[in-house]
Amino acid sequence: MVLFRLSFLAALATDVAASYSPRISSIIKQAKRGENFNVPLQSLLHERRDGPEADAESANALQTHDLIDLESLPFASAAFVSIDAIQNGHSNLDLSHASRVDTHVHIVPDFYLGLVLTTGQSPTPSHLQEHHIHVHAGLDGFHDNEAYSVGLAKLLNEWLAELRRAFPKRFEFYAVMPLPYTPAAIKEAKYALTSLGAIGLGLLTNHEGLYLGNAALAPFFAALNATVRGPHVCIVHPSEPLIRINGTLVVADPTKQCSTALYLTGQVEFYFETARALMDLTVSRTITNYTNIHYAFGHVNGAFPSIEHRFIKTIPGFEQAPRRP
Ligand SMILES: *[C@@H]1O[C@H](CO)[C@@H](O)[C@H](O)[C@H]1NC(C)=O
Ligand SMILES: *[C@@H]1O[C@H](CO)[C@@H](O)[C@H](O)[C@H]1NC(C)=O
Ligand SMILES: *[C@@H]1O[C@H](CO)[C@@H](O)[C@H](O)[C@H]1NC(C)=O
Repeated sequence: MVLFRLSFLAALATDVAASYSPRISSIIKQAKRGENFNVPLQSLLHERRDGPEADAESANALQTHDLIDLESLPFASAAFVSIDAIQNGHSNLDLSHASRVDTHVHIVPDFYLGLVLTTGQSPTPSHLQEHHIHVHAGLDGFHDNEAYSVGLAKLLNEWLAELRRAFPKRFEFYAVMPLPYTPAAIKEAKYALTSLGAIGLGLLTNHEGLYLGNAALAPFFAALNATVRGPHVCIVHPSEPLIRINGTLVVADPTKQCSTALYLTGQVEFYFETARALMDLTVSRTITNYTNIHYAFGHVNGAFPSIEHRFIKTIPGFEQAPRRP
């Protein structure tokens, strides 16, 4: 797919504009016409992998990714068109008045906006703010749908990598992780860090109701900890609290029972959600076990600092535990 070609260019940090192979161009044309593309992903990957430039590491990364069936995703065509627009300078991005350095920016590609209408209980913002340097896109689009979550994360990361490639002095990015699908997230993390040029990973405080210290997510942190070129940075953003009841994920925000209007998730619950995730990383010892990972929490660490001391005292032996240097 076009994605893999673009990511290859991003990995080389080249400024040369890509010229697509005829097959890739035809996929983009089809997508622009609203047609489904149906070129076997595998054959395109072979095209790429056989090139003289492909080194062992990126070949490996691509091999893991041919398991993602992008062609079956209803939003993939729109993503390709969007990536192609950045590539060809047709993205409507005007950075001429950019003047600030901002490290907490949400990027909202047009195809994502069409999929995720609200974020933190407010309408998902429709614009790409234009002065940013570090960006990340949360992934909270599909619950209980591994194929869509993994595919969407992949497309968002390729989009972010293309943005960085097109504006190398303007953007860095944290890659979106398709958690709680741990094996897929491990592959995507390695690929994003080694091939796409992500500076770190973007996580949510909970992924489908699992907080970051949950044992089901430990293999992800173990694999990331063991990935070369650390320390790796995870930027953690609050999300809506969710709880699984009888198999169904429901919103677990008690203040909503009082007044939805007064307690907007994005403006109130996020601070408590941040504290929960920090507590969970701490009490599970994810923080102290996996010292090759550093964390960045937004919103001044939410409500955590005010309870940190009391909380840590409840964890046997924690204060004596080894800390990262
Ligand atoms: C969950 O399922 C059980 C058994 O069907 C039922 O008794 C219970 O009321 C359900 N709980 C909720 C919160 O829906
Ligand atoms: C961290 O290490 C401790 C001690 O080996 C272990 O009990 C705990 O399960 C580990 N936690 C995680 C999240 O790996
Ligand atoms: C995490 O990585 C660090 C740095 O390589 C290492 O010292 C530590 O033992 C690793 N943690 C685990 C649980 O393997």
